[in-house]
Amino acid sequence: SNRTFTMIKPDAMENGHAGAILDRITKEGFKLVALKLTQLSAEKAGEFYAIHKERPFFGELVAFMSRGPIIAAILEKENAVASFRDLIGATNPANAAEGTIRKVFAESIEANAIHGSDSDENAKIEGDFFFNHFERV
Ligand code: GTP
Ligand code: MG
Repeated sequence: SNRTFTMIKPDAMENGHAGAILDRITKEGFKLVALKLTQLSAEKAGEFYAIHKERPFFGELVAFMSRGPIIAAILEKENAVASFRDLIGATNPANAAEGTIRKVFAESIEANAIHGSDSDENAKIEGDFFFNHFERV
């Protein structure tokens, strides 16, 4: 597929990195299909990350993801999911390659600045979680 889904997470919003991150994403050739500023409730954050509900960090992850505003977006580029995962870098910024978004902007393995879908199937599910038909171009 040529689409993926992303969120600029609360830490990056709080640290004033949203503009720089969107600039980097668009300069890498991703086109915006949908974009919004929003805030997840704890319930919605738990639903979004339901796959991790048995993990020891689930409660902290839900609290973190719902603590402040985020920017959600659907992005389009050839080979979007894999290409975007390369651009954001490893989950833990300590392990992320030089120049990746997480290496540059993330604070920690939890407060890691940005989300990227991990499969075409999840990209569709996650995009549909945030955006209806009329919110897409
Ligand atoms: P996403 O793009 O956000 O899905 O990150 P990912 O695919 O690189 O990592 P994963 O799906 O495994 O984990 C989801 C999110 O949970 C991460 O991005 C972190 O915010 C958080 N997380 C992952 N591992 C840990 C951990 O060991 N401790 C804590 N506190 N948070 C973690
Ligand atoms: Mg993931």
